[in-house]
Amino acid sequence: MGFPENVKNVVERYSRIFPRASRVTYAPIVPARAENARVWDIEGREYIDFLSDAAVQNVGHNNPRVVEAVKRTADRLLHFTFIYGFPVEPLLLAEKLAEIAPMGGVKVSLGLSGSDANDGAIKFARAYTGRRAVLSYLRSYYGSTYGAMSITGLDFEVRSKVGQLSDVHFIPYPNCYRCPFGKEPGKCRMECLEYLKEKFEGEVHADGVAVLMAEPVQGDAGMVVPPKGYFKRLKRILDEHGILLAVDEVQSGLGRTGRWFAIEHFGVEPDLVTLAKPLGGGLPISAIIGRAEIMDSIPPMGHAFTLSGNPVASSAALAVIEEIEERNLLERAERLGKRAKRKLNAMKKRHELIGDVRGLGLMLGVDLVKDRETKERAYDEARKIVWRAYELGLIVAFLQGNVLRIQPPLTIEEELLEEGLERLEEAIEDVEEGKVPDSVLKKVQGW
Ligand SMILES: Cc1ncc(COP(=O)(O)O)c(C=O)c1O
Repeated sequence: MGFPENVKNVVERYSRIFPRASRVTYAPIVPARAENARVWDIEGREYIDFLSDAAVQNVGHNNPRVVEAVKRTADRLLHFTFIYGFPVEPLLLAEKLAEIAPMGGVKVSLGLSGSDANDGAIKFARAYTGRRAVLSYLRSYYGSTYGAMSITGLDFEVRSKVGQLSDVHFIPYPNCYRCPFGKEPGKCRMECLEYLKEKFEGEVHADGVAVLMAEPVQGDAGMVVPPKGYFKRLKRILDEHGILLAVDEVQSGLGRTGRWFAIEHFGVEPDLVTLAKPLGGGLPISAIIGRAEIMDSIPPMGHAFTLSGNPVASSAALAVIEEIEERNLLERAERLGKRAKRKLNAMKKRHELIGDVRGLGLMLGVDLVKDRETKERAYDEARKIVWRAYELGLIVAFLQGNVLRIQPPLTIEEELLEEGLERLEEAIEDVEEGKVPDSVLKKVQGW
């Protein structure tokens, strides 16, 4: 099999063989090699990756410790079933996850993707509580298996075509920049929580709800950070009714926000936590961490995958966690995040297009608007900026059509972070000055 050397050729062949359901593209990057925050394509072009490969490469692309762990384990044991046998690597990983978990007395279930972890969280919560109803958030993203898709609050079209789990109810996320209740930050009564109480009065029987599934920072909704106090007040309501809190840390976990888990910013203990994306440093692995009695509520084989607990992926995950610990990456994410946010806020002063800069640690969003008063989303401008950034050698994406997603590796070199931000500002400037033609709009898909 020949390795192609031409980007255009690869891109054309992709659309012939892969269905659109599996993908959403921003720019034609055909990677050949990657190292920390840099990626080189098959034609030798170099990019700075401000996306960490969709929030996967928290410890950097091809992290040497991870690569070494993969090679060492692969040499010895590519796979041995975790379902029938007792391979050591998943055991060490699960014990380590229990050690860093945001709550005590836990057990761990391993899987392959964020989607299956979220399906599992629904199953464990339903089995433990004996209740069916699930609460989720509008504009949330939990994945694309049936369960995860059913609780996802941002793509109703797919559900209308393929069907969904029943007993799922959606509530608005506390988005203070785009408050669904039209309130100003600091001048509200947390109407979003009042709405939940209303829901319990008129639509959902609170004592029949198994779990609320929450992203502690809503990622694909555009890096929305809840206001202080929200989760504490929410947890009180949930506790009153015996409803479990499951937090999806698939995107926000493992140091991304400057803590092991983003929920730690908000001072509440969840009952269940899901992890995936960065866990395997690029290898497919996920985990559900939950209070032991919840995790013991499903019978044998009720949530098991033949390839889960794979020794190579488990070793990679252990190496990711070690890397975060030994290089103090939690502190680094917080420090670099503050610096990036400061720079982005300075850009906001120079560019009317930037309506809001938000995020925690290195999980940042830049909300682009046509008008700062009306906050009308600047869809075309976002597409153009992402394309121009790509031309300038920066990989960046947008969410909700208009929020730039900035999530570089926690290990990104400080000079490269600066360089990437400069390229981003150049892209914004070029778009504001009309230097990027409308013809690029066709080239960028995004969502
Ligand atoms: C918050 C969140 N949860 C779950 C998922 C789904 O994970 P996966 O694509 O590994 O199934 C994603 C993926 O983008 C995510 O961002």
